[in-house]
Amino acid sequence: MRTRIAVLVSGGGTNLQALIDAQSRGEIPDGEIVLVISNNPNAYALQRARNAGIEIAVCTKPDLEAKILETLKDHNIEMIVLAGFMAILSKYFVSHYPERIINIHPSLIPSFCGEGFYGLHVHEAALSYGVKVTGATVHYVNEIPDGGRIIAQKAVDIQEGDTPEILQKRVMEQAEWILLPRATEIVSKRIRLEKVQ
Ligand code: GRF
Repeated sequence: MRTRIAVLVSGGGTNLQALIDAQSRGEIPDGEIVLVISNNPNAYALQRARNAGIEIAVCTKPDLEAKILETLKDHNIEMIVLAGFMAILSKYFVSHYPERIINIHPSLIPSFCGEGFYGLHVHEAALSYGVKVTGATVHYVNEIPDGGRIIAQKAVDIQEGDTPEILQKRVMEQAEWILLPRATEIVSKRIRLEKVQ
């Protein structure tokens, strides 16, 4: 039985698309994306899920977490991938899925992470600090924003003349879209093996 995965999104969903494409190439043999949940009804990510024939759900405030938890239970979800999900999950929420929620962050943690470091802010901070190498990190999610154990990282060089937008695009192309499917397979496999033990 493959690990049943839900992907949580809020925006454009390019990381979701990378997961869908990897799945269709057979690169996530131990998991299956069965559900996409968005807290934003207008997220383009939802269209990507529809195009791929994946079931979608929209969960909004109030009681966002309770609605998500109920939806996850209804679909027997075993693993959660946060792919551009723009809400911080509480300790209560995370305690339902220990070491079963992963997130992609567009820097080399522990640099440029934690509260306030999202989207272009991350790349602005890297450029203004003057680092020469940045990248992306996939990590387990716990109650501390970007604070859980690291699963995988990939470095990306900063180049002369980079703007936050240019850097964001390079980090996505060279790191995020490669790393997230790989990490998803690693964790799917671990969960699948735990089930047969
Ligand atoms: C990505 O940069 C990801 O690292 C961060 O949010 C962004 C989401 O982009 N967590 P997309 O919706 O996957 O295109």
